[in-house]
This record gives sequence, C-alpha cells and structure tokens, in this order.
Amino acid sequence: MRVLVTGAAGRVGTNMVKRLVDEGATVRAMVLPGDAQRSKLDVFPDVEVVEADLGDQAAIDVACRGVTHVVHLAAQLVRGDTPVDRLYDVNALGTLRLLEGVVHGGAEVERFVLASSDGTYRPGRPPARPLREDSWQEPADYYGTSKLLGEVILRNHSAQFALPYSIVRFATVISPEEAGTLFRLRFWRALLGWQALGKNSHLWPLFDGQPDLLALLNEQAGEADDDIAVGLRDQDLRPWTLSLLDVRDAVEGVYRALTEPGAVGQAFNLAAREPTSHDDGAATIADLYDVPKLMITMPTSHRLELSIDSAIERVGFWPRHDFRSTVQDGLRGTRDFIEAHSSSGIASTW
Ligand SMILES: NC(=O)c1ccc[n+]([C@@H]2O[C@H](COP(=O)([O-])OP(=O)(O)OC[C@H]3O[C@@H](n4cnc5c(N)ncnc54)[C@H](O)[C@@H]3O)[C@@H](O)[C@H]2O)c1
Repeated sequence: MRVLVTGAAGRVGTNMVKRLVDEGATVRAMVLPGDAQRSKLDVFPDVEVVEADLGDQAAIDVACRGVTHVVHLAAQLVRGDTPVDRLYDVNALGTLRLLEGVVHGGAEVERFVLASSDGTYRPGRPPARPLREDSWQEPADYYGTSKLLGEVILRNHSAQFALPYSIVRFATVISPEEAGTLFRLRFWRALLGWQALGKNSHLWPLFDGQPDLLALLNEQAGEADDDIAVGLRDQDLRPWTLSLLDVRDAVEGVYRALTEPGAVGQAFNLAAREPTSHDDGAATIADLYDVPKLMITMPTSHRLELSIDSAIERVGFWPRHDFRSTVQDGLRGTRDFIEAHSSSGIASTW
C-alpha cells in the first residue's frame, strides 16, 4: 500500500502517518509549504515529505504520482477571520485538484478517503437526533458548505473515473493533551463570544433570536475563576450534548475506511460511542482537575449527537475512548499519540 496523506502535519494527519507506518505501508506525507508543524514528521525517517498547497495543481500532481491509496485530511478549518473564498478554494476546489492529481497521475488508486465533518449537518441547529449518515445535510456556514461540496465533488469524480472512495464525517476531534481545556468557563466564554459575530459564526442558528448568551453566562458565573468546570443546560435543566472523537479513534476509523471492503462508496459518522453531556463533561473536568463545577442555564437547547451505528456495522469501528479516558490519558502523559500543536484550536471546530 503506497499511501498519500494530505494535511500530514495536522492534528489527525501525523497520527495517521504513524498508524500507516506501523502497519508497514509506504507513506508520502503532503504538507503545506512553510507549515510550522512539519517537524512533527521528523520522527518518521522513512516517510517521504512533499510540499504542496491544495491550490497548486502541478505540485499536487507530483504528490499523487504512484500512490495506491489517498487519505485526504488537509483542510482550512473554521477560523473567524478566514475569507469565505479561501474555505471554498481549499476544501472544495482543493479536493477537486487532488482528485485531478490522482487522475493525471494515471495511478490505479484503490481507495480515496475524504475527511468530512459533522459541520455538514448544521451544528447550531442539528436536523435530527441522533444524526445518521442520511440525515439532512444543510450546513449553516461556509466551512460546512465547503466540506459538503468536497463530498459532492468526490462522489462525482468517483462515478466518472470509477474511483473507490469512502467519506468519514468526524465529530469534534480532540487530542488528549488539549482535552482538558473543554468544559471550562474560559472555553464557553470564547464560544458564546461568537454570538457577536452574527451570521459570520458557524453557530449562528444556535444564537439566532436569542438574548446575549455570554452575558447570561457571566451573570451566573459571577466572580468564578476562568478555570472552573462548566456545562450548559436548557431551561428544563437538560444538559446540552456534543459528540467528540479522540484523535486515536479518528485514526482507527480512517484506517478502516481505507482498508475495509465494506467502506467503499459509503459515508460514515465517526465519534465516541456516546455523545458527551455537558453535565458529565463538566463533572469529569471537576473531578480530574479538582476544580469546582457549575451548570449554567441557557434559554436554548443544543444537542449535536452523531450515530456511529453504520461505522460499527459496516467496517467494525469500535471507539476505545470517551471524554473521560481522553482527558485521563492527557494527564497521565500517555504516549500512544502525537500531540496536535494545531493552529486550529478545539473551540474553532466546535
Ligand atoms: N478537528 C476537528 O474537530 C474536525 C472535525 C470535523 C472534521 N475535521 C476534518 O478533519 C481533517 C483533519 O483535521 P485536523 O483537526 O487534523 O486539522 P488541522 O488544522 O490540525 O490539520 C489540517 C492540515 O491541513 C493543512 N492545510 C491547510 N490548508 C492547506 C492547503 N491549502 N494545502 C495543503 N495543506 C493545507 C494544514 O497545514 C494542516 O496541517 C480536516 O479535513 C477537517 O476538516 C476536523
């Protein structure tokens, strides 16, 4: 198996490279020219590192030459100040250029795996609970739309050029060393602060028509320290929920999408076995970091819950981690993963 991994210096990418090397694959790692995280790949002396921007067709063509499998992880993630056209250019047209690179290269590509996102399901107001792969995909923002366009472009190319593909839709991906920043007062202050962005925030459907949620948070938090554990709940005192995915489980899911026959032509949600309720998430942080816990009541409800039944049934995906074990591994300094050091923080992808 000769595998091209794009976004190889990213949160998921470097761990994917590690897994493939461990499996004995020949790996070519594609990185953005000048990527400050490229040195994370120095621990793999046998991995060929190529620089290519997803905007540069000639460089992409070179990167694709001779590969039998492609794992496409490179993307422009949600960042408040990212110009809209950049999201489309990298995530939609970049995927097209990569597919063109595969076709130009004349290689017999046996599998092309695209990393997509739960952001394609309208995270601020999810259309179903739980979200299954056939749930309505109507993204609320340009990031989600660009990822969905990537999916559509891949399906078209696959039909046109008989390219076996698989799509994985990640929940919010967390690396153990960064998991302890979730469910903190600081985290929710940053996230609810996005309400001020209006429709420039990908969570605008959550904020739409609501009073100032950050003010409500601050009112209830009083003088509390930014580090305390905080979860949000609705007016009926039901905790909000979200789906999380440990980076090591993300790698496992992608590996299965890349190698299992049952993955061909399918899209899969990848997440922990169960969504994390804010009550449990905040309790985990309070317990493991010995900080006070506070539940804050909001006038609205938010539940982003991915079903992973299809990934379990079709490719035998079985996540090994939940939020608590991910945080614990971060605290223990477990070394079965490579730290993210990513410019795309967790808050920006939620
Ligand atoms: N992190 C999450 O919570 C999350 C959730 C859902 C889906 N995803 C998807 O998973 C994939 C991996 O995410 P991640 O968390 O590892 O992100 P990351 O930001 O850590 O890594 C993305 C990589 O893509 C590279 N990249 C960006 N623009 C590029 C370009 N123009 N040309 C070439 N490379 C470029 C970056 O340099 C970076 O190394 C992405 O496709 C993302 O959309 C992530």
